Amino acid sequence: MFKRDFGGKKVLVTGGLGFIGSTLTHRLVEVGARVSILDALLTPYGGNKFNIKEIEDRVELVNGNITDEETVTETVRGKDFIFHLAGQVGYLDAKEKPFVDLDFNGRGNLIVLEAVKEQAPGARILFSSSRMVYGKIKEVPVKESHETQPLSLYGIHKLLGEKYYAYYAHNFGVHGMSLRIPNPYGPRQQMKHSKYAIVGWFIRQAMEGKKIQIYGDGNQLRDYIYIDDIVEAMMRLIVAGQDGEAYNIGSGRGITFTEMVDAVIEAVGQGEKESVPWPEDYEKNETGDYVADTAKIKQVTHWEPGVSLEEGLRRTVAFYRQNKNEYW
Ligand SMILES: NC(=O)c1ccc[n+]([C@@H]2O[C@H](COP(=O)([O-])OP(=O)(O)OC[C@H]3O[C@@H](n4cnc5c(N)ncnc54)[C@H](O)[C@@H]3O)[C@@H](O)[C@H]2O)c1
Repeated sequence: MFKRDFGGKKVLVTGGLGFIGSTLTHRLVEVGARVSILDALLTPYGGNKFNIKEIEDRVELVNGNITDEETVTETVRGKDFIFHLAGQVGYLDAKEKPFVDLDFNGRGNLIVLEAVKEQAPGARILFSSSRMVYGKIKEVPVKESHETQPLSLYGIHKLLGEKYYAYYAHNFGVHGMSLRIPNPYGPRQQMKHSKYAIVGWFIRQAMEGKKIQIYGDGNQLRDYIYIDDIVEAMMRLIVAGQDGEAYNIGSGRGITFTEMVDAVIEAVGQGEKESVPWPEDYEKNETGDYVADTAKIKQVTHWEPGVSLEEGLRRTVAFYRQNKNEYW
């Protein structure tokens, strides 16, 4: 299926040196796509050249920022598909650097969409949004129609990004859509800090024999989704999704924080946990239980998640055991 959709096609992945973008790039190369990556390799994000080492001679790498209109215009020109993943990734960082977040997640999106409208009007484009657009959760599982009252600037700017896609679809016929990603984990995620990789960070702590801290009672439900399932959904959605729409993705399984930590300790084969009070910054942004309702994406793509948390953790731990030096 993917060979037919992407074989020989010109595909741009912004943020393609990062966790999600690089894994997607591997899969796209595998099915015969001609992939270009636009990435600025900015600190503290997860860009890492090692992420594409095995395929580096089969992708075009453009070192540039999505806020640079000229570079974006050049790289978007003539593309068939654009996966737009470059952006500011941490909700706590957005609080400290609001204008960076607005620049990357707001203006950056607008620049990419303008370039698509002018340079690749027939292209299909997918924007990596976040579950953070919802804010406090009123009802699980969460449908796309749930109210959107983000608790963070990151969520506000991701929602702004989604609105741009709806606007460009409605006014200019741009074939763009958004994917609301919950808690992703898996190989190739940065492991240097805890700000946007909670599962990965806990794996590192367990591997180093450190105590894993659980905020509050640890009963908060989360929807942890393995990277390969995200990539599969993205590739299906960019082909079949409806212009201007936003779609959830998730494992379909709500897992408590404590269960996740126990599963990490089990997969690593060592580790300890302790309960601590919520830090103030985190508590203010705490959304409550989150589990995605994924009926909408399933209806248009027939996508199903295939990797359980236990299996995903096993694969992730194996990856970091082998490649620790590239990520620590
Ligand atoms: N990791 C998560 O928890 C999560 C959850 C929901 C949504 N998302 C979204 O998915 C996308 C990818 O996330 P990821 O986990 O792969 O992050 P990542 O940090 O691993 O990758 C992001 C990549 O984008 C690049 N980048 C950042 N800003 C850029 C800019 N202005 N110009 C060019 N390149 C830039 C970085 O260098 C990095 O390679 C992001 O848009 C993120 O907001 C991530």
